[in-house]
Amino acid sequence: MKNRILPAGITAMALSFLLIAFPAKAAEDISYKKDIFPIFNDYCLNCHKPGGKGYKKSGLDLRTYKSLMKGTKFGAVVKPGDSYTSILVQVVEGRVHASIRMPYGISGGLAKDKIELLRKWVQQGAKDN
Ligand code: HEC
Repeated sequence: MKNRILPAGITAMALSFLLIAFPAKAAEDISYKKDIFPIFNDYCLNCHKPGGKGYKKSGLDLRTYKSLMKGTKFGAVVKPGDSYTSILVQVVEGRVHASIRMPYGISGGLAKDKIELLRKWVQQGAKDN
């Protein structure tokens, strides 16, 4: 009997931990339209559209899914399913040189929850959803 009760207790504990650690978005897919584009709109588009200084320097246009996936003049910044090597995630996490931490020129960078959304969206396959 004990043997059957103990694993159930552990499962329940693990579940409640998951619910506390990942509220709301636990099982849901991150949406490009609802979650990701609004971040670009608020923090990135000023510079990453034609005429902006990030666009001029890197060629990265964040106005559409298509232009995001095209990347910079040097190549893609998103590798679907691989947030660790995706440059998009690296520059907001500050895993690259400080001079190219994004959003450019804002000390402290993006809020953690926004970075997490970007990271998860890439990890989930960077879908046009
Ligand atoms: C104030 C202007 C500005 C803002 C705001 C800005 N960027 Fe940039 N971004 C730049 C500039 C300038 C470069 C080129 C940096 C360089 O090469 O030295 C750049 C380059 C990049 C690159 C390419 C890095 C590389 O070397 O391949 C990515 C990816 C990027 N930005 C993403 C973002 C994201 C995501 C945001 C919003 C969270 C953002 N940027 C906000 C100015 C900006």
